[in-house]
Amino acid sequence: MERPPAGMQPTWKGTFCLRITKIFLPDQTESGIIVLVNAQEIKKLPPGPKAGLGIKLFQQRIRDAAGFFEAMHEQYGDAVYFRLLNRRFCVVYSPELIEQVLVTKRDSFHKGPAFKKTLIVHNPTTLTGDGDDHRRLRKLIQPCFKRKNLDEYAKIMIEATVKLQEDWKEGEAFDMTAVTRKLTLNIASPVFFGRDMHISSSLIEDVLYTLTWSMKLTMLPMASLIAKLPLRNNRFRKNTHEALDRLIYQMVDKARRDEKRVDLISSLVHATDEDGIERPLSYEEVRDETCIQILASHETSANAMAWCFFYLGLNPDVRVRMEQEIDEVLGGRIPSPEDYNDLLYTRAVLSETLRITPPTYVVGREAIEDCTIGDYFIPKGTIVQPFWRAPQRDEKYWPEPLKFKPERWLEKQSLERPKYAYVPFGGGTRNCIGMGFAKLQVVFALAVIGQRWRIDPVSKEFPEVRTLGFYAFKQGLPVTLTERKSFHT
Ligand code: HEM
Repeated sequence: MERPPAGMQPTWKGTFCLRITKIFLPDQTESGIIVLVNAQEIKKLPPGPKAGLGIKLFQQRIRDAAGFFEAMHEQYGDAVYFRLLNRRFCVVYSPELIEQVLVTKRDSFHKGPAFKKTLIVHNPTTLTGDGDDHRRLRKLIQPCFKRKNLDEYAKIMIEATVKLQEDWKEGEAFDMTAVTRKLTLNIASPVFFGRDMHISSSLIEDVLYTLTWSMKLTMLPMASLIAKLPLRNNRFRKNTHEALDRLIYQMVDKARRDEKRVDLISSLVHATDEDGIERPLSYEEVRDETCIQILASHETSANAMAWCFFYLGLNPDVRVRMEQEIDEVLGGRIPSPEDYNDLLYTRAVLSETLRITPPTYVVGREAIEDCTIGDYFIPKGTIVQPFWRAPQRDEKYWPEPLKFKPERWLEKQSLERPKYAYVPFGGGTRNCIGMGFAKLQVVFALAVIGQRWRIDPVSKEFPEVRTLGFYAFKQGLPVTLTERKSFHT
């Protein structure tokens, strides 16, 4: 066995004291010096709040998860360890530690428990699978997002955004978050099922509702019993599940008869890896992957879009510069997928929005073995959470970090910035598989809407937010509409 470093060998007295400490105290002190002991080693946990039952921490975490993580960072530094109820948690905040969790030490981790349990999805999926299951699914599904398919999806995104604003009127007021949710649903139906299927976006809404509800349910004790009770939500889940099943059967049939279909479900049916080694997706896997892709794509994209319009409304100079670019590139015509590359500043608006307010600002991994992150010991079973909102707002990497400045993405970088100082789509082998899709969706929404309308938040104050799961508007985003042509006459 490897010898512990000099000065770290515990004496019998030290070992005895630490054993006693471990028995009578939780495995941590306020300063974080404590320590787990085996016969040979003393290991240091990250600092963090004193452990109790963790109920107070739990309440804070539920009330404002992002605020809770930020307060811990301020108090304890770049790695914080604590216990919530009966679980161990460690949050990491620096690009270096985030990179270790997501990339260099990823084999020590599985995906965290969130999203893993739903009563609808029974097989491993890209979002929830681990190890070989995950590697196989990524290999099979990555090609579904290839350039050719994305171009087809971009056409759908553009059409849906043009259609969305057909009924808009000068001076109208609405909740922008409802609009961006509607738009992403209207895009999802033809993208997932194909234009010819004419699937109502309400089916996708129902799938989302039942997924979210069943995930909440699985957190309760006796979930499987509750799931069988004759409750309204259970009946609704069963009906939605059956409707989706029937539809996916039809889709699989269609896809098998017509190999040229490019809708996402057909791509899943035909999914093969480059080497042709992996077993294709089974029918159940196609169904489960469809559910999970709908779940992963909806709230993230709708939120990102809404935040873009919020920041544009608060920064009129940025908006004017974006409008100028849109006018120059498009010259008044409806965009086509090829315009994406030329919409440089519009893309920078999205990058800056995702920097300053990433909708997914933290993720979870579960340590499957004892390991170290930085100099700290992470016991097996700990949920380790890279919180990248911190480096994305750190002035070490971003001058004037709280200013919304899309031009910083066009300038030659004056700062050497670590790669993991910007991680809105995650990193490593588990980064967002739909990143290209998401960027197209938001950039074309900005271009099509920005070509004709200005959207102004009714209040210029920073809104109340809901931060459990995603960073989202708590009470929606009330806005008013002004038609741009009124500025030119
Ligand atoms: C602006 C919109 C989006 C944001 C900010 C976003 C963000 C993320 C992040 C941070 C992860 C990594 C999660 C982790 O490490 O645990 C992720 C994973 C994932 N995303 Fe997205 N996402 C967006 C849109 C989409 C879209 C449009 C799709 C599908 C069409 C999608 C599908 C997925 C899937 C399937 C995964 C799991 C990948 C894996 O673990 O291999 N996302 N996303």
